[in-house]
Amino acid sequence: ELEFFFPQEHTFALIKPDAAKHHKDDIMQKVKEAGFTISKIKEEALTREMAEQFYKDHKGKPFFEELVTCMTQGPSVIMVLSKENAVEEWRQLMGPTDPEVAKQTSPESIRAQFAQDILSNAVHGSSNREHALKSIECAFGELDID
Ligand code: TYD
Repeated sequence: ELEFFFPQEHTFALIKPDAAKHHKDDIMQKVKEAGFTISKIKEEALTREMAEQFYKDHKGKPFFEELVTCMTQGPSVIMVLSKENAVEEWRQLMGPTDPEVAKQTSPESIRAQFAQDILSNAVHGSSNREHALKSIECAFGELDID
């Protein structure tokens, strides 16, 4: 079994409300094409507490309130994606935070293709394994996949 050599890693991934409304099928297509297993998925609006948890490193920054409002305005697609090196590979597929940069440097990325601007930039993904585990637990409870 391949997984013996390439153990699965899990990351926390989310399609932000605006993109969930307009580009969900196209984004899910790219997720599958990139070879991720969708280990968990649900669609619901984030609570303020969840949004603050996912972005707690940004608390106090000038864009924080706008960010929380943007993230809680409607249903998001909330996922656990699994693959070898999932955390890093999902960040790669997302592309840079600013879609104008993404269009220049990573035209195949989700943000290059589906982001509106730096705030409504289509997707979220944890930046490291520790954040991923915390966010997965916050959204889905204890991790019960291997
Ligand atoms: P950040 O963690 O820097 O980027 P990423 O989403 O690529 O991990 O920022 C988190 C979110 O905060 C980002 O997706 C959108 C918002 N944001 C702004 O609205 N303006 C900004 O200048 C930055 C840096 C982020």
